Amino acid sequence: MTSSSPALPSSKTRDSAIYLDNAATSWPKPPEVALAMTHFIEEIGANPGRSGHRLSIEAARVMFAAREAIAELFGENDPLRVIFGLNVTDGINLALHGLLKPGDHVITSSMEHNSVMRPLNDLSEQGVDFTQAVCNSEGVLDLSSIETALRSNTRVIVINHASNVCGTIQPIAEIGQLARRHNLIFLVDAAQTAGVIPIDMQHDHIDLLAFTGHKSLYGPMGVGGLIVSERVDPVNMHPSRQGGTGSRSEREVQPDFFPDRFECGTPNAVGVAGLLAAMQWINEQGMNKIRMHEERLCAELLQGLLCIPGVKVYGPQNAEKQTGVVSFNIQGIEASTVGLRLDDEFGILCRVGLHCAPSAHRTLGTFPKGNVRFGIGAFNTIEDIHQALQAVSQLAKEVS
Ligand SMILES: Cc1ncc(COP(=O)(O)O)c(C=O)c1O
Repeated sequence: MTSSSPALPSSKTRDSAIYLDNAATSWPKPPEVALAMTHFIEEIGANPGRSGHRLSIEAARVMFAAREAIAELFGENDPLRVIFGLNVTDGINLALHGLLKPGDHVITSSMEHNSVMRPLNDLSEQGVDFTQAVCNSEGVLDLSSIETALRSNTRVIVINHASNVCGTIQPIAEIGQLARRHNLIFLVDAAQTAGVIPIDMQHDHIDLLAFTGHKSLYGPMGVGGLIVSERVDPVNMHPSRQGGTGSRSEREVQPDFFPDRFECGTPNAVGVAGLLAAMQWINEQGMNKIRMHEERLCAELLQGLLCIPGVKVYGPQNAEKQTGVVSFNIQGIEASTVGLRLDDEFGILCRVGLHCAPSAHRTLGTFPKGNVRFGIGAFNTIEDIHQALQAVSQLAKEVS
């Protein structure tokens, strides 16, 4: 951020605590999010795409506007290829369970979240094989390790764009090129980057992009999903759920067109309304401004932590190469104790442990005890970072 850029913070008063758990979910949200959700409940309220009356049509309009905003943000031409579900986990499950068959092989990385590892382990019991390409000690995936893992039956590469444990940003454009060269389907878990790091599905050769609304997209919980590029035919992807869509009601089999093939049952339209408002807020701020703000705070945090004796920082240790996620341990104190004391004594809220990503912790050498994770968001201030550094410094001094 240039020094003249206006600061983002000040969404609401947060006197009682310093929230540094934005990698789990962003908070606070832009005020427009709650307003849009309240407006939907109070003024629209009807079931989208079902009844055909004016309020139902208005609800469907909100859903479509959100599809358009998502498609535009990620470089997908057809908004109907945005499938709404619960979260990124839902999107990843739909993609992996929908596409893979016994005998298929998948390449993933050693930095993945359980939202990738658990479906893959489940599928391996049904005859789908997978290889975890090993990342280096900073969590970076080397393309040659993907090349080495390639087999004649490899069908999918699935990678997270950035690690939720230490923030490492993977070279998805290069991985996308590799996937395209070998005619593989490229699925990206954008949980930690959607809304803060630019993603262009066409430029990056991403065939399937799973996203979650409640992290750096600043929307509410319970809305996310999957964007399916033109390279994937809906008929070749099995829908994990079947049911009412409001379309083709005379037929008792699931429709074969987007998005209805994969969206059935009443959607979380209130959540989608909130997500739409959040994306409008991001566009007004400018994604780059949010990223620059977080990068500045991240650099300050890294620099401060690296100067505290007894503190070990994991990941790239370079704000340009990571998201606003910084993880560390204090020698001589368990991560769980650090988390409790930061909350109780300093009002600093963070997440400790394994962060649903045991493979990533094995890669970083922090399994099974894990580490302490600070997740920076758009509403954090430099004062938040300084207070967090002071608290860590005090805890580290006690054991030195
Ligand atoms: C990299 C990554 N993938 C998947 C998830 C799961 O996100 P959700 O709970 O929104 O499905 C997370 C959440 O922390 C994540 O960081």
